Amino acid sequence: VLEDYDISPITGFVPHDQPLPRLLQAYFQPWEETMDQLNHLIDSRQLRSKVDQWPVLDVAQLTTLRERQRAYVILSFVAHSYIWGSGLDISQHIPEPLAVPWVAVSDILDIAPVLTYASNDLWNWKLKDPKGPFELENLETLSTMTGTKDEDWFDIVSTAIEIAAGPAFKALIDSIHAVREDNIRTVVENLHLAHVQLDKISKLLPRMFENCDPAVFYWKIRKYLAGSEGTAGLGLFNGLQYNGVGVNKNERRYYMGATAGQSSVFPALDYFFGVTHHELDHNTNTKTAPNALLLKMRGFMPAPHRAFLDHLAQTANLRPFVLSKTATDPESQDVQELIKIYDACVHCIKLFRDNHIQIVTRYILTQAKRGPPEGWEDYRVKIEDQPPVVAKVEEEKPKTTGKVEEEECVGMKGTGGSDLMPFLKGNRDETNAAKIISP
Ligand code: HEM
Ligand code: ALA
Repeated sequence: VLEDYDISPITGFVPHDQPLPRLLQAYFQPWEETMDQLNHLIDSRQLRSKVDQWPVLDVAQLTTLRERQRAYVILSFVAHSYIWGSGLDISQHIPEPLAVPWVAVSDILDIAPVLTYASNDLWNWKLKDPKGPFELENLETLSTMTGTKDEDWFDIVSTAIEIAAGPAFKALIDSIHAVREDNIRTVVENLHLAHVQLDKISKLLPRMFENCDPAVFYWKIRKYLAGSEGTAGLGLFNGLQYNGVGVNKNERRYYMGATAGQSSVFPALDYFFGVTHHELDHNTNTKTAPNALLLKMRGFMPAPHRAFLDHLAQTANLRPFVLSKTATDPESQDVQELIKIYDACVHCIKLFRDNHIQIVTRYILTQAKRGPPEGWEDYRVKIEDQPPVVAKVEEEKPKTTGKVEEEECVGMKGTGGSDLMPFLKGNRDETNAAKIISP
């Protein structure tokens, strides 16, 4: 079943055959040559003129899935470098030779033409030693925009987490089948297998600190991740103009920026374990509709992975199984073990979300509060200097008050458009609440 959704039982949502590192056709060499020199072209401010002069290439020349994914990665990297790579001079458009093939290949892949988690993390890596293991130490990115080790590490930690999740999905699918057969021993065994991987995932995240400096992330890398919608203070206030695209030939479009919230791993785990995420009504403090931003992020995942999540929504059965066993036979040894390992798995996901909140505090909130190190550019546009948004109006959300961190980030947004801490803490608390034995 997994392979039907372009998922590997070994490496999960990243291709086990590895992303294509290069388009080999001579026809596409203008793109690959630009990618070869991307960091130099950005630093010397030659990228825009180079891309303006590209021929308009036809993506019909791409025949395989991996070729199309490679084209999407190239065009996402070049586009975001074009927009953000000239200091405070932010381009409000991308030129035709970039916009036209990017929209075309994105349409074929059924993914948005904006830098996504797929561009940065799913399809932008290789094994240092091709015969070595699929592990963090043996992974590196194919490209970065800033040319820093920090950006390489920022991307590759996510890729390593994706890969660690692969074997968990195999075990969790097997547990779905075992639940159908009412085979509690096999469910428990598979949850133990999944737990090993979930434990790895929660331990991989804090390794971000080893090689990605929070200041470099916030002041040098982060702007490249921004989209054209909902990212307050990051420059594209009226969308991005895609030259040569659409009926008027200069379509303006709005997309959220890249965020690991576009990873399919966590929504998939949430389904498997029956963790649900809702909007909170701030007036009554009650949960209402399903979390809109998490659902919106699905639109930025590769289409087969989105379909896998829809499939899980229909088939996930673990939590009702655990609840019914707990209700009918709580004293049996098997049920005791089932509850223990189910809660241990949920606890790993909760720990991951705890660690992630620490990361966001240190990589975003602390940096924003301190301001840029001396001599570094402040790419943020002050709220008072922002032009009025003409085409789209963001809905004002009630502000959460009380906790220090939350006060610090009022008005700030993630590259995916969230209100940061209220969003992340809500998700964390909802994870914890799924445990059978309340902590
Ligand atoms: C969401 C920041 C690394 C997984 C978010 C959000 C922010 C953020 C601000 C909220 C959505 C938005 O508005 O963008 C960061 C920073 C990181 C980092 C600063 C590193 C420096 C990672 C990594 C992963 C990850 C390595 C795992 C692959 C997630 C998930 C969400 C999310 C799953 C969705 C929220 C949830 O499910 O609870 N991240 N992130 N993040 N991030 Fe990260
Ligand atoms: N989503 C992360 C941010 O907002 C990358 O910075």
